[in-house]
Amino acid sequence: LTLTVDTLHAGHGVSPTLYGVFFEEINYAGVGGLYAELIRNRAFMESPTTPAWWTVVQDRGGSATASLDAANPLNDTLTRSLRLEAHSVDAEQRIGISNGGYFGIPVVPGRHYQVSFFAKADNGFTGPLSVSLEDATGRRVFASARVRGLTTQWKHFTATLKVPPGGSQSTDNRLVIGIDRKHGMPTQVAPGTSVWLQVVSLFPPTYKDQPNGLRPDMVHQLKELRPKFLRFPGGNYIQGLYDPDDPWGTRFDWKKSIGPISERPGHYNASWFYWSDDGLGLYEYLRLAEDLDATPVIGVFDGFSIDRSKTAGGREIVPEPDLGPYVQDALDLIEYVIGPVNSAWGARRAADGHPAPFTTPLIEIGNEDGARGGAPTYDAYRYPKFYDAIKKAYPQVTTIATTGVTSRPIEIIDEHIYTSPTSLEGQANRYDTYDRNGPKVFVGEYAARHGDSEDISTGPLGYSLGEAAFMTGLERNSDIVIMGSYAPLFSFVGQTQWGFNMIGFDQLASYGGTSYYVQKMFARNVGDKILPVSSEGTGLFCSSSIKTATGDVYTKIVNTSNVTQSIDLVFAGSKATKARVQVLSDPDPAASNTLDNPTRVTPCDLALRGAGGRFRYEVPANSLSVVTIQR
Ligand code: AHR
Repeated sequence: LTLTVDTLHAGHGVSPTLYGVFFEEINYAGVGGLYAELIRNRAFMESPTTPAWWTVVQDRGGSATASLDAANPLNDTLTRSLRLEAHSVDAEQRIGISNGGYFGIPVVPGRHYQVSFFAKADNGFTGPLSVSLEDATGRRVFASARVRGLTTQWKHFTATLKVPPGGSQSTDNRLVIGIDRKHGMPTQVAPGTSVWLQVVSLFPPTYKDQPNGLRPDMVHQLKELRPKFLRFPGGNYIQGLYDPDDPWGTRFDWKKSIGPISERPGHYNASWFYWSDDGLGLYEYLRLAEDLDATPVIGVFDGFSIDRSKTAGGREIVPEPDLGPYVQDALDLIEYVIGPVNSAWGARRAADGHPAPFTTPLIEIGNEDGARGGAPTYDAYRYPKFYDAIKKAYPQVTTIATTGVTSRPIEIIDEHIYTSPTSLEGQANRYDTYDRNGPKVFVGEYAARHGDSEDISTGPLGYSLGEAAFMTGLERNSDIVIMGSYAPLFSFVGQTQWGFNMIGFDQLASYGGTSYYVQKMFARNVGDKILPVSSEGTGLFCSSSIKTATGDVYTKIVNTSNVTQSIDLVFAGSKATKARVQVLSDPDPAASNTLDNPTRVTPCDLALRGAGGRFRYEVPANSLSVVTIQR
């Protein structure tokens, strides 16, 4: 079998934005994941009736109750606080409230944690309040601090909890704030004394020590992919779930996601069934895009929410006369991202810490508007209203449509493809026949998966190779397919709502699944021009590109079969004698990476010797290879 790469006849350019990432708040990707905050329901806004995720601590006979208190809000946004009422706290006793974070707070020896909260008290109680990072039983205290100076007015308190080095890391831990009279503390606490708390926050060290920051290991995983764009924040996450009492209330409302965290109310992520404190808000997404050197691709709510109360396929649409404010939200968003500092929203961006405009974003109008019968209203008025308004105010901003329309031009269309690995591999030629005069294509979500697989964090190699086969088609057709991103990106192992993801994580660590390595190998080994490849009869999937400045030729070869293929690899027009090969393979297509065995399947390097641009290569069963030569 012969596979020939014609190095002398480069074809069209490779889209410089082909490989990017799509972040959605799903599978605790943000809260509990990338967003480093360790306290769950820190602002007590998750439930109007109970302090969800908080537990009263009554140690050694102390007695207290905790309740939500709407009569003592911190401000107009955080409309209730937590009231801890001490019934009795005698010498040696402790009362307080505890929070176990997202499935347990991780503690790493030697690490420093920043705790902060607002507090006030009555009955003349001025403190100290004790803050303790401890195991779930309270027997082992890793670090503690005391804060003093409470008054009857809200005050902000901070402390550093320094966990000493030594010992092992753990996750089954909690933060306790309260009144601890264990060490003969002299403080007398009058029965009935109340302490109010708000925005109780605990951060480990963050990426670049940024305030309100992100988990370094997870940002590092993204950086390694060298993404050219970052699409966010969803997916279904931007659409929310229709609720007759508050029809569009669970959409992603970016205006409520900026500014100090004490002014972010959070919202129910109805699409994926958990509360988001919106600490990971528009500003943090943009900062991440900048740190990744990736162009922001921002999905905006366009008047389409999902309605699960209907039969399968339910949706609700904002009527045409009511759409105006959402169009304005999109315009304001663009102003926040790139407007001058003397514009209203540009000034807000500057106040949030970024006077310079961010990179001009692409704006995606909605998400999957062709699904659930959304297309007619999309074509009739939703897409046109957003498109016209954006193009008029910001002609430099490129828009993305989510389904076909005839009412206005489409600049880029977003296609989502979730299917079996064989079906995905069968679509390796999908774009060969697309109209070159039509809209550019953004494959904004794709993955090989099967249904009823919500508990599978990251899929097996065989599935990732279906994606690799498909990706050879994206690359070969990147004159028209200008962007592509796998989805979903992150999943908290054991807490997923959607199976088959790129990166798995828990409280302490993250790892790349086999799909992660496929993405990384494609994104990091690509030239700027496509080279013709003929591989008839080999049953292999291939794409090849050349970096014209250096003459490096990258050839991707995917073998989705269970047998080794012996091929003659010919680089016509080259006299190369050496080739480097990076291979991701395993005899077992069911092999996966996991938290316990994160490097079970990772790429390895080998070298080939050849003559006159010809090489003999045994393409391993179940493999993706990237062969690099210098022409
Ligand atoms: O990636 C998970 C979901 O799949 C996204 O939220 C949605 O856009 C798609 O249907």
